[in-house]
Amino acid sequence: MDNNKRPESMARINTAELAEKFIDEQITALRNQIGDNKVLLALSGGVDSSVVAALLIKAIGKNLVCVHVNHGLLRKGEPEQVIEVFRNQMDANLIYVDAVDRFLDKLAGVSDPETKRKIIGKEFIDVFAEEAKKLNGIKFLGQGTIYPDILESDGVKAHHNVGGLPPELNFELVEPVKFLYKDEVRTVGKALGLPDNMVYRQPFPGPGLGVRCVGAITRDRLEAVRGSDAILREEFAKNGLQGKVWQYFTIVPDFKSTGIKDNKRTYDWPVVIRAVNSVDATAASIEEIPYALLNHIVNRILNEVKGVNRVLYDLSPKPVATIEWE
Ligand code: XMP
Repeated sequence: MDNNKRPESMARINTAELAEKFIDEQITALRNQIGDNKVLLALSGGVDSSVVAALLIKAIGKNLVCVHVNHGLLRKGEPEQVIEVFRNQMDANLIYVDAVDRFLDKLAGVSDPETKRKIIGKEFIDVFAEEAKKLNGIKFLGQGTIYPDILESDGVKAHHNVGGLPPELNFELVEPVKFLYKDEVRTVGKALGLPDNMVYRQPFPGPGLGVRCVGAITRDRLEAVRGSDAILREEFAKNGLQGKVWQYFTIVPDFKSTGIKDNKRTYDWPVVIRAVNSVDATAASIEEIPYALLNHIVNRILNEVKGVNRVLYDLSPKPVATIEWE
């Protein structure tokens, strides 16, 4: 039997009842596979790893060790939400690693987009491997592989394309959602009681805000990306666009232009708003944000985000533009 082929008999999980049934079956299967051993899981807070974490917490409780690496490129409130949901609400065994300085120091002065991606990917593996080596008695590695990952890239998540863990960390894999499509993962996540903004969240790239702080990342410009992104997300949520628009975020390019504030000339960055609709990210069209809302978002960004004096709305579809700016 092909271990990476979804069984033909498997029903599409599209109701809460089917999700409950899947959860019950997985709890039994996970207990059989894992026994009294320990499982390590890199928990980003994305829907796939969060669903795997919640399933494993139900199956083996404190024998799951979650590691959340804060690489400094997460969106506002994300590390706090992972700690709140998993440590405080679900009582998980969660190791929080503040690796912000480490990542930003390595990235300082690096402007090539693919080199930035490689540094972020490699550093992530290194930080995770260091945490893993501190722990004893881990036999398994949990992974949020989903079926499209298997179909599209030989079972390797796109953002893990920088190589795997070192050979001495030779764990057996636990992949409870590997036959599920994204909508099924969300249905299971909802049934597991995960918050809606985790279950229905928009796609977020592995290198995070790093690819939206165009060119060489600086801490102040990264804060401008994070602050403007938080405003955009808050306004989209308030105005019923969350869940309706496929992906939306802000970019801060590495150039400045002149402005005027309190009768003084400024020389600051622009913020670019991107809001696109897509089915599978291979093509994307532009969301028509109502003008009054766009205007309100522009004013909030100009008033609240430091170092910014101009806001632009990117109207370029994919193709010819890509969704991200680098
Ligand atoms: P582009 O910019 O190529 O993006 O039109 C298509 C989709 O892929 C996401 N993306 C990434 N995801 N690692 C990821 O995990 C990456 O390096 C990466 N680059 C782009 C992007 O957010 C969009 O959803």
